[in-house]
Amino acid sequence: MQTHLRGRDLIALEEWTREEIETVLHVAADLKRARALGVPHPYLRDKVLAMLFFFASTRTRASFEAGMAQLGGHAQFIESRTTQIAHGDTAKEIGEILGRYNDGIAIRNVDWGVGNRYIRDVAAASRVPVLNMQCDLWHPFQTLADLMTITEKLGDPRGRTITVSWAYAASYQKPISIPQDLVCLMPRFGLHVRLVHPPEFSLMPDVMERAREHARRANVRFEVLHDFDAGFRGTDVVYAKSWGAMLRTTDEREGARIIQQYQDWITDERRMALAAPGAIYMHPLPADRNIEVTDGVIDGPASVVYDEAENRLHVQKAVMALTMS
Ligand code: CP
Repeated sequence: MQTHLRGRDLIALEEWTREEIETVLHVAADLKRARALGVPHPYLRDKVLAMLFFFASTRTRASFEAGMAQLGGHAQFIESRTTQIAHGDTAKEIGEILGRYNDGIAIRNVDWGVGNRYIRDVAAASRVPVLNMQCDLWHPFQTLADLMTITEKLGDPRGRTITVSWAYAASYQKPISIPQDLVCLMPRFGLHVRLVHPPEFSLMPDVMERAREHARRANVRFEVLHDFDAGFRGTDVVYAKSWGAMLRTTDEREGARIIQQYQDWITDERRMALAAPGAIYMHPLPADRNIEVTDGVIDGPASVVYDEAENRLHVQKAVMALTMS
């Protein structure tokens, strides 16, 4: 267990060692147990987290805010549109100023080609830890919660197979940060990874290189398939969600046209039946119901989406307690 995390940023899990991530998971399990038993755990009494959002959120906002209250502190909700950020406050100014008012700064900025850079610019100017609540490249708190959930449901994840698949959704071009984070994190913990998508929905080449390198080091398989049904066969974890064709085009209309070609990429009962016995269905939410996944699957016995959403709370509390105390 690593005990020297105070003051650290969490912008990408790639910058945290496996042992540090294991520490987060151990602390998250302790905090989950404490909450279930009603045991107070005010590790961050009188501390304040600034939460800066450039993009909508349900789970991330609610879980960070609840988590800070449960740790004895407070979370400030700040939206870019209703502050002077819209009128020119720079990333450096935000880092300097919010860092002086607060004990941590959490940011969600998923703008393609902008988000990660913005968070790093704030971090460079901040005297307190900066936490990535999702950017264009990574969604570390989501995938930490995913790893915790897989371990809870399947036990030791080593040797299990996770299918990280694209799925059709009509609502909007979703960021590629979750599949990118999953394909890099899961092999580090011994899971075989199957990445499945239509040809237009590739991930970034340097992320693919990292994922392959993690798989090589862990001696697990990393496969890329373009056949949706094949992705389900014999897998232990189905993680199928939509993302945008960012690497192909940044034009919204062209992206939407490409997505429309794959309307049959829906997770349904027939496809889930192809998976291994006891396989679980995961989705970070929000899902496009009966477009991306049927009600029968997301509300069915294989679905763990609510436990997955709950675990956001516990892993975030663990990281905040370890970095902001
Ligand atoms: N999974 C996730 O990040 O949910 P929100 O977009 O609602 O925060």
